[in-house]
Amino acid sequence: MTAETSTSTAPADRVDLRDVCIVHGRGSSAVVAVEGVDLTVRPREIVSIVGHSGCGKSTLLRALAGLLPHASVQGNLSILGRSPEQARKSGLLSMVFQDPVLAPWRTVEGNIRLPLQVARGRERKPSKTISEQLEVVGLGGYEKRYPKQLSGGQRQRVSLARALMMEPQVLLMDEPFGALDEITRDEMHTELLRIWGTTDASVVVVTHSIPEAVFLSDRIVVMAAHPGRIADVVEVDFPRPRGNDLKDTPEFARIAHRIRTALEENR
Ligand SMILES: Nc1ncnc2c1ncn2[C@@H]1O[C@H](COP(=O)(O)OP(=O)(O)OP(=O)(O)O)[C@@H](O)[C@H]1O
Ligand SMILES: [Mg+2]
Repeated sequence: MTAETSTSTAPADRVDLRDVCIVHGRGSSAVVAVEGVDLTVRPREIVSIVGHSGCGKSTLLRALAGLLPHASVQGNLSILGRSPEQARKSGLLSMVFQDPVLAPWRTVEGNIRLPLQVARGRERKPSKTISEQLEVVGLGGYEKRYPKQLSGGQRQRVSLARALMMEPQVLLMDEPFGALDEITRDEMHTELLRIWGTTDASVVVVTHSIPEAVFLSDRIVVMAAHPGRIADVVEVDFPRPRGNDLKDTPEFARIAHRIRTALEENR
């Protein structure tokens, strides 16, 4: 193969799921939560997953993070050519949850340091200090604060700073702004895109909010339930950087309508 025809220079997919099936429990109480899911995520792509409650979004994300028992996951799951668990343990992948899960007795700095201590001896080292990472998420100078001294949005920023410390190439987020009020949510949308712009990460984000999905994503995966499967994939090609005024445009409304219709058809 010549250099011109070789595909080896094309960036490989960061996430590659083939025929993924996930079953919770065993025997008569087993629940097929996800079935036949094929999904790839390219470098620096933002993909959101939307779907009705219980359709398997969190299950799929937890499988991607290597947080489910091996026996419950079938099919091929590859994160940068590794198993999800290996990718997470080597710091190539990290996850942000709806609840920032910060230890209340640790300062902001202590909370961010925790996974770094666990990661000692990993092949990759962070290139930013904790203070530099806090600057990136807009919390410069908050090192010594405790979680109870922060607003909900600030706690979620700490959680994001912690997830970004190892400079993951895949960032998974499960309803990261679900617990925030609408104004803070809007602010966090533009902030997330700004912060993502400073990284090399691909993002997979689960959300219940159609505008959030349209605003953030390059592609939106609509899931159907019972069992959870991919019903539709919608491309969103608004140029970046994106500002909140995008949400008032007819094209934004058109894509949001398409997602809403797909959700109604897959109830
Ligand atoms: N540990 C578990 N054991 C048994 N069943 C489970 C378990 N976790 C989830 N399920 C079931 O799997 C299905 C998918 O759950 P999942 O949490 O992935 O849904 P979801 O799409 O994230 O919903 P939501 O939008 O409400 O967060 C549901 O039917 C749920 O009851
Ligand atoms: Mg969920």
